[in-house]
Amino acid sequence: MPGMTNWQHPRFFAYFSVTSSEPAMLAELLAAALNQVAILWRTAPAATELEGLVLDWVAQLVGLPSGWHGHIEDTASTSTLAALIAARHVTGRDAVVCSEHAHSSVDKAARMLRMELRKAPVDGEFRMRTDGLELGDVAAVVATVGTTSTTSVDPVAEVAPACRDAGAWLHVDAAYAGGAMVCPELRWAFEGVEMADSLVINAHKWLFTPVDCSLLWTSRPDRFREAFSLVPEYLRTPDSEDALSLSEYGPALGRRFRSLKLWAVLRCLGRAGLQERIRRATRLAELFEGWVRDEPGWELCAPRPFSVVCFRRDGSDGENEALLRRVNDSGEIYISHTRLNGRYVLRLAVGHERTTEDDVRAAWDLIRREALRVP
Ligand SMILES: Cc1ncc(COP(=O)(O)O)c(C=O)c1O
Repeated sequence: MPGMTNWQHPRFFAYFSVTSSEPAMLAELLAAALNQVAILWRTAPAATELEGLVLDWVAQLVGLPSGWHGHIEDTASTSTLAALIAARHVTGRDAVVCSEHAHSSVDKAARMLRMELRKAPVDGEFRMRTDGLELGDVAAVVATVGTTSTTSVDPVAEVAPACRDAGAWLHVDAAYAGGAMVCPELRWAFEGVEMADSLVINAHKWLFTPVDCSLLWTSRPDRFREAFSLVPEYLRTPDSEDALSLSEYGPALGRRFRSLKLWAVLRCLGRAGLQERIRRATRLAELFEGWVRDEPGWELCAPRPFSVVCFRRDGSDGENEALLRRVNDSGEIYISHTRLNGRYVLRLAVGHERTTEDDVRAAWDLIRREALRVP
């Protein structure tokens, strides 16, 4: 189809390769037909109640403590913005700390809020270093579980006590890797997350739900609500004292029925279906990583905890950049890049639910073939 980037193709390996799934597509169609406008509990009771329910289900699936309040925002960018608004409301402070590998949405939120952003350096494996953290006047620390370039995991279990001691809000950005916590063997990455004040996981990244569906939890719902609640006269209802209106927990008033597609995914795929898909993607990335490791003339550039491999060909940045261009111009696969320690690095992300070993093998064959071609 002209003008379309084929995110739904099993050989789409760029950015975070994300995938929709049939149950979610049908539910999205239904949500459009029902057109629920959840400005208040009363204007969309089922949508509001279902949102709470599916957020609780996902919280259980990824091992969060019980009792956290969850709701859905459009994107992780909005979720993080909301968390920083709550952090500033609670602390009365204006500084935000994240690692130099945090997603640009943290920079953008700080800029929009006119908060001062301080970047902590990372260690050799691209994780936030905690040795020099000074949090005395800090409103919030954003720790990332699954950074965008390399999927590195900040040491949340070390950052959390430091935040508690300093009275700073801890927001965890697990936009990509959070979904993988459905698999117990990957839960090490969530160590310490139970101490966070807020957490974002994008269902539209690794929970087989089409964009947009960003899940935002807080362990301090009352303070979160205080930061956002504003109910004008024309929206007051008899329910308002005790009923739950999710618009009081974030920037948007009109909210659509996003929970339906996530509910469909959870009901149709189930825990086992999610685990199977996440394990398959991780195993395929591990295979690819092994092929790169074993091939002379190629280099792995970062550890691979999940389903993203960072690698490059021996040679200059320009040669690697030209290689990426040739590979993508072939139209056979699509990969993306990043820069690590100043060097141009190729990124292959596995995530589509129908990607097979043949697809990953075809990608590696093509990349090696193009690398041998004189441009
Ligand atoms: C770690 C991380 N956080 C946040 C985001 C922003 O996500 P969204 O597009 O939902 O705003 C991304 C996007 O890739 C990401 O990788």
